[in-house]
Order: sequence, then C-alpha cells, then structure tokens
Amino acid sequence: MITSLLPNALLLVFLGRALALNFTVAGGQIFTPGLAVLDAPQPGTPLGGETIEVALDVSANGRLPLPPYPSDSPSKIHNITIFLYSYAIGKNFTITNGTATANNASLGDIMLSEPGSTVKHVKWLWPDCLVGDGQPTTVGSARGVYNISIRQNFRLNGADHYTIFDMPISVTNKIDFDLLRPTCDSLNNPLLTPEQVNVTGANDVPVLFAPGDSTTVQTGGSSGGDSLGPSKPTASPGQGLGNAGSSVNWRSGAHWVGLVGIVVAIVF
Ligand SMILES: *[C@@H]1O[C@H](CO)[C@@H](O)[C@H](O)[C@H]1NC(C)=O
Ligand SMILES: *[C@@H]1O[C@H](CO)[C@@H](O)[C@H](O)[C@H]1NC(C)=O
Ligand SMILES: *[C@@H]1O[C@H](CO)[C@@H](O)[C@H](O)[C@H]1NC(C)=O
Ligand SMILES: *[C@@H]1O[C@H](CO)[C@@H](O)[C@H](O)[C@H]1NC(C)=O
Ligand SMILES: *[C@@H]1O[C@H](CO)[C@@H](O)[C@H](O)[C@H]1NC(C)=O
Ligand SMILES: *[C@@H]1O[C@H](CO)[C@@H](O)[C@H](O)[C@H]1NC(C)=O
Ligand SMILES: *[C@@H]1O[C@H](CO)[C@@H](O)[C@H](O)[C@H]1NC(C)=O
Repeated sequence: MITSLLPNALLLVFLGRALALNFTVAGGQIFTPGLAVLDAPQPGTPLGGETIEVALDVSANGRLPLPPYPSDSPSKIHNITIFLYSYAIGKNFTITNGTATANNASLGDIMLSEPGSTVKHVKWLWPDCLVGDGQPTTVGSARGVYNISIRQNFRLNGADHYTIFDMPISVTNKIDFDLLRPTCDSLNNPLLTPEQVNVTGANDVPVLFAPGDSTTVQTGGSSGGDSLGPSKPTASPGQGLGNAGSSVNWRSGAHWVGLVGIVVAIVF
C-alpha cells in the first residue's frame, strides 16, 4: 500500500477520505436494491485477469424465472446496464448499455446472454488506459479505485423501478498490453455529479432478498404465483475474484446473515 509509506499526517488525510459504505453480504453474495444478486466480485477487491468478470444472478436467487417473461408478468427485469466509473479518476466507461459495439468492446443485452443460466457472467475486456500492474504510478494514470455501477430497470409486483447499485473495486491487478484492447475514449461517457445521478432519489426500494427478507416475487402469467426461492444462496466465496485485500475491513454481523459494514480506502 502506498499509504504505509507516507508520513502519519498524510496517512490521516487518506483515511479521512476513505469511504464508509454498507453492503448486505451473505454466503458470498451481495444483495442489491433490485432483482439481481451479485456473486462476484467482492467489494474493494483487486480484480484478476484479462477481463473483468461480473457475475450477476438475475433470478433473485430463484424467485424470478428467466426471460422471455409472460407478457402479463407483474415482475420482470426490463434491462440491466453496467458502467465502470470513478470520480477520483474522472472516467465513466460503458460495460454494457444493451447495444454491443464492435468486438463487444461494450456488451449487448446481458439478459439475452447465456440463455438458460440464472447467473450472467459479464466479461468485459479492460480498455487500454488501464494497462499496468499494481497501484497507479503516474499522476495521469487511469488505474485505481472505481465503482461498478449496476443499473436495474425492473418491475416488481406490478411497480416499475430504476435502481443504482455502486460497488467499489480497486483496479490494481496486472493488465497486460494488448492491441485488441478498446480505447478508453471509445467507451467513455460524460461523468455526472452525484447530485445529477441522485442515487438516493432513484432508489425507491431497499436492498432486497437477503436472507431474512420476506419480499416475495409475483410472477403471475403462465408460470404461476410466488416462488420463494431456495432457502440459502449457493454462491461460494471462491466465486469472488481475489480475496479481500489489506484495504478492506470486514465486520461480520451475527450468524451467516451478515449486514457487513465495509471501509474502502481510496488510494490515488
Ligand atoms: C450501516 O447500516 C446499518 C443498518 O442500516 C447502520 O446502523 C449503520 O450505521 C450503517 N453504517 C454505515 C457506516 O453507514
Ligand atoms: C430499459 O428499460 C426501460 C423500461 O422499459 C426503457 O425505458 C429503457 O429504454 C431500457 N434501456 C435499455 C438500455 O434498454
Ligand atoms: C463510488 O460510489 C459511491 C456511492 O455512490 C460514491 O460516494 C463514491 O464517490 C464512488 N467512488 C468513486 C471512486 O467514484
Ligand atoms: C458479441 O458476443 C456475442 C456472444 O459471444 C456474439 O454473438 C456477438 O456476435 C458479438 N458481437 C460483436 C459486435 O462482436
Ligand atoms: C453504448 O455505449 C457505447 C460505448 O460507450 C456507445 O458508443 C454507444 O453510443 C452506446 N449506445 C447507446 C444506445 O447508449
Ligand atoms: C455514466 O454514463 C452513463 C451513460 O451515459 C450514465 O447513465 C451514468 O449516469 C454515468 N455515471 C456517472 C457516475 O456519471
Ligand atoms: C434526489 O431525488 C429526490 C427524489 O426524487 C429529490 O427529492 C431530491 O431533491 C433529489 N436531489 C437532488 C440533489 O436533486
């Protein structure tokens, strides 16, 4: 960690800029304000490999069938878009906005990928400006702390919602130079202010479907009524890419149902 090399005064400044964020984690799964459940990555972790892989259960752990949904279904996912953005770095890349670009630099509709699978493995080639290894070493580096921003457009029991779920990751893993990488410019979008995005204004449902949550999903149509889903999520910790690094403190809740507070240090 860069911070460990710095004098105490600077270290305090860095800690003062750390984010305290709350995530609802159980059985290695991260629950969101919506029908999707995040199996990987885990908050704050560095991510390994040539691609980032976001594993999303789009069935609320078995409560919602896969598309195509019955036309009269009171619950369905309209679409899910995902961005990788950072206020610290000033980038906002499209991972998927529903329309694939050349070579799948940004991805098409993830709900149509892996038909038959309730877990969608969103694999996205890191763009060129993220090439490197370890912490950012130059002032202009685009590596460092980002959020995976998962936007869900869905209908739950007859009401439409749009929610935003931001999960911090640390782009400090080794990403090799490769001519196939898309340019960052080709994927970059305008970065809106937190006031413009207004996460709290957008999210009109709380985190759903964590163990102990009694929310049911009316699926109606030809597939019948409520289904309560499995009693326990099936994700294993091994589905996370990398483990919680030194920048992350976990404070587990009671039982295996943990409402876990997490502190993510920003490292510039
Ligand atoms: C996290 O959420 C819990 C329950 O809603 C709350 O009591 C706690 O203060 C929150 N912690 C932070 C750091 O926001
Ligand atoms: C997602 O679904 C909403 C509601 O049906 C629609 O307004 C929006 O255009 C869709 N967005 C994408 C990217 O498909
Ligand atoms: C990540 O998202 C949180 C919550 O939306 C936000 O407060 C924070 O500034 C974001 N982090 C970065 C690096 O942009
Ligand atoms: C994107 O990937 C999908 C699935 O592998 C493939 O069917 C499609 O042709 C690709 N699209 C583009 C634009 O490369
Ligand atoms: C989707 O994202 C790509 C890459 O940022 C962009 O070129 C394209 O215009 C976007 N398409 C839509 C429909 O927003
Ligand atoms: C990132 O870009 C997308 C597409 O333009 C936008 O919907 C989203 O709000 C942007 N995120 C931020 C944090 O500005
Ligand atoms: C965010 O949205 C809520 C609900 O629509 C609204 O009351 C609030 O004024 C908005 N905040 C900002 C900064 O626009």
